[in-house]
Amino acid sequence: MKQVRLGIAGLGTVAQGVLSIISMNGGKIRDRSGIELKVTRVSSRTAKPEVDLLGAKFSQDLSDLVADDVDIVLELIGGEDVARNLIEAALDANKPVVTANKALIATYGNDLLSSNVNVPIKFEAAVAGAIPIIQAIQDALICNDFHQVVGIINGTCNYILTAMEEEDQPFATALSNAQALGYAEADPTFDIEGVDAAHKLTILAGLAFDTPFELEQVYVEGITKITALDIEYAAELGYRIKHVGVAKVVGAEVEARVHPALLPSGALLANVNGVANAVVVRSDAAGQTLFSGPGAGGMATASSVLGDVVALARSGESRDGGARSKTRYIEIGEVICSNYLRIPVRDKPGVFAQVANTMSEHDISIEAAIQKEPVAGSAFVDIVIVTHAVAESVMERAVATLREKLGELEVSQGDISRIRIETLE
Ligand SMILES: NC(=O)c1ccc[n+]([C@@H]2O[C@H](COP(=O)([O-])OP(=O)(O)OC[C@H]3O[C@@H](n4cnc5c(N)ncnc54)[C@H](OP(=O)(O)O)[C@@H]3O)[C@@H](O)[C@H]2O)c1
Repeated sequence: MKQVRLGIAGLGTVAQGVLSIISMNGGKIRDRSGIELKVTRVSSRTAKPEVDLLGAKFSQDLSDLVADDVDIVLELIGGEDVARNLIEAALDANKPVVTANKALIATYGNDLLSSNVNVPIKFEAAVAGAIPIIQAIQDALICNDFHQVVGIINGTCNYILTAMEEEDQPFATALSNAQALGYAEADPTFDIEGVDAAHKLTILAGLAFDTPFELEQVYVEGITKITALDIEYAAELGYRIKHVGVAKVVGAEVEARVHPALLPSGALLANVNGVANAVVVRSDAAGQTLFSGPGAGGMATASSVLGDVVALARSGESRDGGARSKTRYIEIGEVICSNYLRIPVRDKPGVFAQVANTMSEHDISIEAAIQKEPVAGSAFVDIVIVTHAVAESVMERAVATLREKLGELEVSQGDISRIRIETLE
């Protein structure tokens, strides 16, 4: 029997989940692993007398966690500067760290992982909550060459898109429902603008492709421009709209992007709904593997935090060992994708031909097209087209030309909506 003493920073959703799991399942963890988890210290900004600290000493000073009676420090406060200082202090004092902080790892992970290389830092909970995707990439699938990692890695976006599709909720209603249910923050910007997913994809791409974490190389687009019409037309064409993170190897380079995408409606990922997360990994030996589960929530996230704690306590392993070599990340303009375009226009003869001609001038082939009948009494229609795969820069130029031409014809009725299509192949 080995006792491992934990110092927990923070007393919020995830930290309380950690305390609850130890209280509920501490005995099982001990029986299975031979490790007794003992919380000796908790430090956080605000005391919460209603929370059972399992006998730990409480203080409001985070530096109290780097103490002799703490073996592993759990950083569960979030944010960047204070969290980074705490982690550095813990590593300097030879104390392994477990964190759920994706923003911190995506931004400062390279520095943290390359300093104090003999003291481990683990961050399973930073990506996709309860899903053990980091362990899968670093341990279970370690013998594979990874080709692609594609995932729904932001539960807030997935909840909103699912509510828009299944319950016909407008974006604003779906967002405020997500907030009321605790699935979205009061300030939801990081989630709905794709930043949170970019943090997670940065980590996944770095681990899968042995590159440093390169947040600034990830192309980021959120879901705020997706409309009910796009969801309806996508369904008619056999797709569902999801917010995805895509990281893949193209030749000797890496492509990493987060944005809404049309997924074939029969694809596994297309059927992951609500706040759930899922990640599909493609690799040479294992082929395609799918991981899905809760992407957030106190208990679900704490499950990953404590998985890391037990792994550390069991093996005392050194950190990820990654020899990370700089690889070129592909500029978004060079990325090749099929596209969905919704072009709202005045219902006049010749407009569809203009759209088709413009695509052809840019060497873009149209795979499918729908021209909707105008609603009774309306002079407007949507032209919806699906293109074959084409470079982003070409597509952007074609859309710009189309805007210009439709403007000259005075038939434009709102902006063109463009959403990339992921065939997941
Ligand atoms: N919640 C999830 O579902 C989830 C999922 C995956 C990853 N994560 C990550 O887990 C971490 C914690 O998230 P959470 O949801 O538990 O956050 P939270 O509920 O806001 O809790 C944060 C806790 O840290 C304390 N704190 C914040 N800044 C502090 C500071 N400068 N000094 C001392 N204490 C400080 C807060 O004190 P106050 O009580 O005074 O505010 C609060 O107790 C974040 O990195 C987050 O990204 C969360």
